[in-house]
Amino acid sequence: MSNPGTDSPETGIERQQRIARGIQRRLVEHIRNASTDLNPGPARNDAATYTSQDWYEREQQQVFTRLPLLVGMSRDLPEPGSKLLFEAAGPSIVVVRTQQGLIKAYLNMCTHRAAQLVTQCTTAKRMTCGFHGWTFDLDGDLIAQPGGKRGFDGIDKAQFRLIEVPAEEWHGLIFVIARPGTRDDIDVASFLGGFAPELAQMGFERANPIKATRLDVAANWKYAYDTYGEGYHFSTLHPTTIARTAHNDMVVHDKFGLHARINFPYRDQDAYADKPEDQWTPRPYGGVHLLFPNTVINVSSMGPGQVFSIYRIFPDGGPHQAFSLMAAYRSGEVADDVDIKPWEEFHDFIMNVVATEDYSVSASGQRNLRYAPEGFLLTYGANEGVLQDFHRHLAEIIGQGG
Ligand code: FES
Ligand SMILES: [Fe+2]
Repeated sequence: MSNPGTDSPETGIERQQRIARGIQRRLVEHIRNASTDLNPGPARNDAATYTSQDWYEREQQQVFTRLPLLVGMSRDLPEPGSKLLFEAAGPSIVVVRTQQGLIKAYLNMCTHRAAQLVTQCTTAKRMTCGFHGWTFDLDGDLIAQPGGKRGFDGIDKAQFRLIEVPAEEWHGLIFVIARPGTRDDIDVASFLGGFAPELAQMGFERANPIKATRLDVAANWKYAYDTYGEGYHFSTLHPTTIARTAHNDMVVHDKFGLHARINFPYRDQDAYADKPEDQWTPRPYGGVHLLFPNTVINVSSMGPGQVFSIYRIFPDGGPHQAFSLMAAYRSGEVADDVDIKPWEEFHDFIMNVVATEDYSVSASGQRNLRYAPEGFLLTYGANEGVLQDFHRHLAEIIGQGG
């Protein structure tokens, strides 16, 4: 792609602006016509995918311990020795930044007798097991066995390295695959496919954490995740909150293989419906970025800069319970001394809406699914295309695993 009338290639920023303008055109078009993006027709899905223990276990094996999962952003691990515990996908995993500044991850398990190694995330350069004191460096090497060393004469320390987990820091996003493996076993760019250029451009490298909240929900993780993928429920479920600012049942839906981006028309675009495009104020790039299988990155602009809201939904021990890790980050272009209160308030507002409106429907719906007759099918409308695609992709992956 090059600029019209010049030979210079399009810069990342120009590309993002072009995409933002394309989205804005489609949003205004939907407002003009009271239309929305649609999949070809309705689709149905067996309730057992939300309720069965067997399906839950297959998801654990085929999805949550096999695909790259977002565990945080670069500035969550700002310096050598920084650590992050990730236990949501099953195994306890410790993610570290090494002396060289690289991201590595290990099973959070001492190689002596498997005790949990890191229980508190300090910035110490060594990790010492609380059971017998075996000590490891940030590269996973066993570097000390204080006391009792005589009991281990002749062991080859190289065989007692921490067990590595595939981890990759990619344009400010940190992913792991929650099972043993090496750096060669993870390839975030190819996992993201056509979505990679969009996400690489976001400036996640410089995003600073603001606030994080955990929300528990008595529902299958997918019932919770589904609520982020459609705006068809705005006016009925969110009449006094989201529906005040966003149109109901209108969406711009872009597909990137397993992943998707959606944008909802906010009422600030209404004024452009009867104006020519050269009179519009350009809408900044944004949207709800859905990273398969369980992550939402909502990019929005407010006050002095962008906010990245990252919501990750995990099953919690079975098909009927889940939790969300919800975190807000402000973009790096925002000066350090800016009052972050507006972002905190935005985060709290979303937490409140999700907990009291979305997840309360997820929980009561899940309860109904438990007692629904066998073979009950949920229906996703053509206007709920994200949900259709998500459940189809999941079924394809689970099906392949047998
Ligand atoms: S289990 Fe860690 S030192 Fe013994
Ligand atoms: Fe909602």
